[in-house]
Amino acid sequence: MILEDRVAIVTGAGSGIGRGGAEIMAREGAIVVIADLSPERSEETAAGIVKEGGRAEARPTDVADDSAMEELIKGTVGDHGRLDILHSHAGIQVEGGLEEVTLEGMDDSWKLNVRAHFVAARLAVPQMKAHGRGSIIFTSSNSGVFVDAGILAYITTKAAVIMMTKQIALDYAKFNIRCNALCPGWVDTPFNDPYMRQMGGRQALEEYVQNQIPMGRWATVGEIAESILYLASDRSSFMTGQALVIDGGECFG
Ligand SMILES: NC(=O)c1ccc[n+]([C@@H]2O[C@H](COP(=O)([O-])OP(=O)(O)OC[C@H]3O[C@@H](n4cnc5c(N)ncnc54)[C@H](O)[C@@H]3O)[C@@H](O)[C@H]2O)c1
Repeated sequence: MILEDRVAIVTGAGSGIGRGGAEIMAREGAIVVIADLSPERSEETAAGIVKEGGRAEARPTDVADDSAMEELIKGTVGDHGRLDILHSHAGIQVEGGLEEVTLEGMDDSWKLNVRAHFVAARLAVPQMKAHGRGSIIFTSSNSGVFVDAGILAYITTKAAVIMMTKQIALDYAKFNIRCNALCPGWVDTPFNDPYMRQMGGRQALEEYVQNQIPMGRWATVGEIAESILYLASDRSSFMTGQALVIDGGECFG
């Protein structure tokens, strides 16, 4: 198993991509701490992993709450002795272009999609330094590498986190701490509900996916989870500061 006994934290792991990543890391031997805003969903993910013979525990956490984040990281290191992998995944999508997006929506987007990753990484790196290695994964989006219509708050924050990834990668390479950005395209999870509303419903979104994505379909959670495993493990041991795009060709189609 390629992550035998590694300790991982995954935020937003109560559903969708975060849950898929937590599950695949646990299957490869990691001890995974499930940190979702929802206590129920955190427990559900952890219980599912344990049922399959893996190791996981729920530590419900709001990534926008700095003291809760400190408790999450310090508590994990207190219980398991170290932190090898941080997958800072939770984020939000606020709809609207320049004139539609609210000021509050813009502020919330920066708080979750950028600041929360910064806070998580800032707390994680001293622990990783102490053990001579670490892999940090920030979830961005393919929307961070190309321009998409009508989602100004999302595009700007997802692009910003890619630049933060590169800066952290550069500064911490000498400590054997790698930092990469995960950039999925369309994955069918509840996360897309706001954009679906904005587009005019399910049918319109299905047509968009079929017509705009060169591969003509959604990504599965499993396909994105494989990339999470790659970034978390030594399989990507010489890769840092990169934005890994997994989107069926959408961003250049
Ligand atoms: N689904 C997609 O198509 C897609 C594509 C590109 C990027 N992403 C990125 O993936 C992440 C989430 O997507 P998903 O598909 O896994 O979504 P999802 O809706 O399936 O799951 C998101 C989880 O995050 C949790 N969450 C929300 N706010 C939180 C907070 N403040 N603190 C902790 N947990 C919180 C929710 O409770 C939920 O369980 C986002 O960062 C998003 O930008 C998703």
